[in-house]
Amino acid sequence: MEHALDITLTVNGTEVRRRVAPRQHLVDFLREELGLTGSHLGCEHGVCGACTLRVNGDIVRGCLMLAVQANGCRVETIEGLTDSKELSALQRAFHQRNALQCGFCTPGMLMAAQDLLNQKRKATREEIREHISGNYCRCTGYQAIVDAIEEVIHGQG
Ligand code: FES
Ligand code: FES
Repeated sequence: MEHALDITLTVNGTEVRRRVAPRQHLVDFLREELGLTGSHLGCEHGVCGACTLRVNGDIVRGCLMLAVQANGCRVETIEGLTDSKELSALQRAFHQRNALQCGFCTPGMLMAAQDLLNQKRKATREEIREHISGNYCRCTGYQAIVDAIEEVIHGQG
């Protein structure tokens, strides 16, 4: 591979070493090299939020980050947060309230919503809307998504 670079990062708690092309985006790397296809690619311009990931504890746009920039980082994806059950309350609420239709936006939406939950504050509906405003959904009209997030926020201690 021309000008390939070696990277080492932690993905969902497991150390990963790979040789990558310098221009490969982090989401492409996760999907194509590691088979983690839960992170979606929509706009690829940092607008839609379908690619939302967690890097070193903060949510980022995976389409705007190169795999080489994640060298030495701790990356968490929808698969990791599902396996650890961190998302289980949100996933249950999304399911019960029909907060998804095609599901394309859902992984990124859950990652963004969990980020708000982890702040452990009683966010208002307006603040919930603000927090997920970078995550587009073409199907639901957002009402059920905000309902689901609000239910979990108000249910947590
Ligand atoms: S695919 Fe990254 S923001 Fe749309
Ligand atoms: S459920 Fe289809 S884009 Fe959100």
